[in-house]
Amino acid sequence: MMTNFFQEHSGTLHVENVALPDIAAQFGTPCYVYSRAALTAAAREFQTELCDTVDLVCYAVKANGNLAILNLFARMGFGFDIVSGGELARVLAAGGDAAKTVFSGVGKTVAEMEAALSAGILCFNVESASELNVLAATAARLGKIASVSLRVNPDVDAKTHPYISTGLKENKFGVPFDEARSLYRQAAAMPSLRVTGIDMHIGSQITELSPYREAAEKMLLLVRLLEVDGITLEHIDIGGGLGVRYRDEQPIPLTAFAQMLREVFAGRSKRLLMEPGRRLVANAGVLLTRVLYLKPGDSKNFAIVDAAMTDLIRPTLYEAWHPVSVVTLRQGVAEKIWDIVGPVCESGDFLAQARKFALREGDLLAIGAAGAYGMAMSSNYNARPRACEVMVDGSEIAVIRAREEIEKLWEAERILPK
Ligand code: LLP
Repeated sequence: MMTNFFQEHSGTLHVENVALPDIAAQFGTPCYVYSRAALTAAAREFQTELCDTVDLVCYAVKANGNLAILNLFARMGFGFDIVSGGELARVLAAGGDAAKTVFSGVGKTVAEMEAALSAGILCFNVESASELNVLAATAARLGKIASVSLRVNPDVDAKTHPYISTGLKENKFGVPFDEARSLYRQAAAMPSLRVTGIDMHIGSQITELSPYREAAEKMLLLVRLLEVDGITLEHIDIGGGLGVRYRDEQPIPLTAFAQMLREVFAGRSKRLLMEPGRRLVANAGVLLTRVLYLKPGDSKNFAIVDAAMTDLIRPTLYEAWHPVSVVTLRQGVAEKIWDIVGPVCESGDFLAQARKFALREGDLLAIGAAGAYGMAMSSNYNARPRACEVMVDGSEIAVIRAREEIEKLWEAERILPK
């Protein structure tokens, strides 16, 4: 499958040294299975390849906010990119460093700003003039100084799926490039704010380097104009968005990314930050699921599995293609073209379409590259408890999130007294 941490031994798919059927037997399905070695390898690649260009890598918590994963990255010295008070609380609960945390997002509430100011985060990535005013007022009320960076929309095409493209004028994100300079001047005049940086994020699952280069050059142009205005920034945050391989995409090699940064930022003394999510976790996790029923038909053959769009919504939402492997290869079963679908009452509830497999009921399937935006986007639709999450480390298995208990689903609900 994706990396050498997910490999077949004697006809059965393993995660590191653990056979996936053993995990299914012990913890049930559906179950997210992560490889600690894969996570560490992905993180180390960032540290090695970007050591002389990027000063702080802030992992985008939204990709996968499990405490065990955040804690691994925190222990390796990573910072975090958060988009809510909930993510801030997660980072702190996982032992992350607030002083290495940046706060992105178009809709920060006053309560979230207060929590982040109290925690002492590194920087607010501000996305509008109104937000800037609310932040200034909130910081003044608390007697704090908020470090701010404006998220500037560079209006470049990241050439990715429209739902995950963010750097075009028509997207809701960031401050328009042409308005940024005057907003910086306003920010610099507000006593409760300290203008420290500039931020961009042009989209996600990007596989071309040129949009990054184009956007980074625009940022630098703005940095120079601001210097003319007497505003000197300390850091430039180039966002996240680095793509991974799901099918046949060619991800940007980190060496090439680092080289681009060296070229664009040559001779600059600014600290460089970035906010990768997917690239750190996607290929470190699979979703393990069992075939409940086979339903061959005239026009389509359906393999109904126990995982659903509630566990992994990317295929439904983005028509995303995830690799699927049969965990234990079968002899003596005819190959057919199958749609892999879940039990949820929606025609859009599919995990994969038109894949050729030799399948029997009861077989296990591993849906690959599921470490990013899998569990993080899961839901309880159809009163489905969320899957269990386990982390494999060599021959050991740790439960990092127990399977959700059904009663917990309505714990906060109340029946009317009359
Ligand atoms: N920084 C900001 C401000 C972001 O909005 C995002 C992602 C990231 C960093 C991290 O981007 P990454 O390195 O993971 O591409 N649910 C979609 C992806 C949505 C991404 C949203 N923003 C998916 O499953 O493809």
